[in-house]
Amino acid sequence: MSKIRVAFYDAKEYDINSFEKANNESEIEISYFETKLNEDTVKLSEGYDVVCVFVNDTVSKNVIDSLCNNGVKLIALRCAGYNNVDIEHAFGKIHIVRVPAYSPYAVAEHAMALLLTSVRRIHKAYNRTKDFNFSLSGLTGFDLHGKTVGVVGTGKIGRIFIDICRGFGMNVIAYDKFPAKDSDIEYVELEALFERSDIISFHCPLTDENRHMVNPESIEKMKKGVILINTSRGALIDSAALVEGIKDRKIGAACLDVYEEESDVFFHDYSGHIVDDDTLARLISMPNVIVTSHQAFLTNEALSNIADVTLSNISEFFNNDTCSNEICYNCVKASSCAQAHKAKCF
Ligand code: NAI
Repeated sequence: MSKIRVAFYDAKEYDINSFEKANNESEIEISYFETKLNEDTVKLSEGYDVVCVFVNDTVSKNVIDSLCNNGVKLIALRCAGYNNVDIEHAFGKIHIVRVPAYSPYAVAEHAMALLLTSVRRIHKAYNRTKDFNFSLSGLTGFDLHGKTVGVVGTGKIGRIFIDICRGFGMNVIAYDKFPAKDSDIEYVELEALFERSDIISFHCPLTDENRHMVNPESIEKMKKGVILINTSRGALIDSAALVEGIKDRKIGAACLDVYEEESDVFFHDYSGHIVDDDTLARLISMPNVIVTSHQAFLTNEALSNIADVTLSNISEFFNNDTCSNEICYNCVKASSCAQAHKAKCF
């Protein structure tokens, strides 16, 4: 049997290492492209069976049409979120698989690392002691114990983050569009969560409905000094409103692993360049904002799981009638999709 040919977009050294390690003597042949998938680069996919993409590749209507014309049969997302894919347009034309969970611990632990760094000013202290400055001035933090954390989205990552917070003796309240049944989580309405929380952490997917759920009106409802943590998707937060909220001293701190305009900036080295995005530059200039460039997933365990599941998704699609990790427009909208039985969605 001829090999399954995969065009792997936005390839980084750590991706190549983990995929090459996992792809030993396999029926799958991977070509790695540094460039992201978009309308200009989709022509590279000609002659391939699969495109493998990540969070900042653009899988729009036009890109999907070109992929189909090029004979590509499968879009293999090596991530969980699919907000960058026009899944409605893809339905009936090209199948999409994803890695539903690669390490929820990696993301939840990163959210807590950002929170601890922020409240205990570790980023400031690290720079100071590197410069033999041992002054404690301005480094006063606060105890997390006894504070109320509001968790938006109580899926795999949100629940682990809740467990971590409980370990710190924090009071946890949560909002989820589909609250978990039979759980000991205290669910509240979103508005109440905004009003009651000292810290708010976002762990829900980005959808049309919740884009900019943090906006001038919701910020108005929040406690003065609230800390926002976003390790989910950047566009949950209106960044311009965030800047204003911090300037007004309403928002006490922001911990951002994602940013709504991240796709042109994150994962690249722009040191020595002038960054064009004034909002991002303003946020980074603020002493109470910590930005990491979408690295919450980046652990050895997660990379290895991503490679294993992506390769097995591809093999399963070409060798079987089942397609365990397929997603489509109908899966999201209704449970009547064939995927409920692990069959291909169409
Ligand atoms: P999950 O699917 O297990 O949980 C998501 C939860 O959000 C579900 O309980 C769902 O009911 C809830 N939800 C859906 N729509 C909502 C809404 N409008 N408002 C409130 N809750 C809503 O997903 P998981 O694995 O916990 O991942 C959460 C998000 O984390 C992903 O969607 C992705 O955007 C982000 N992520 C970020 C990574 C990073 O490296 N920064 C890595 C992996 C995921």
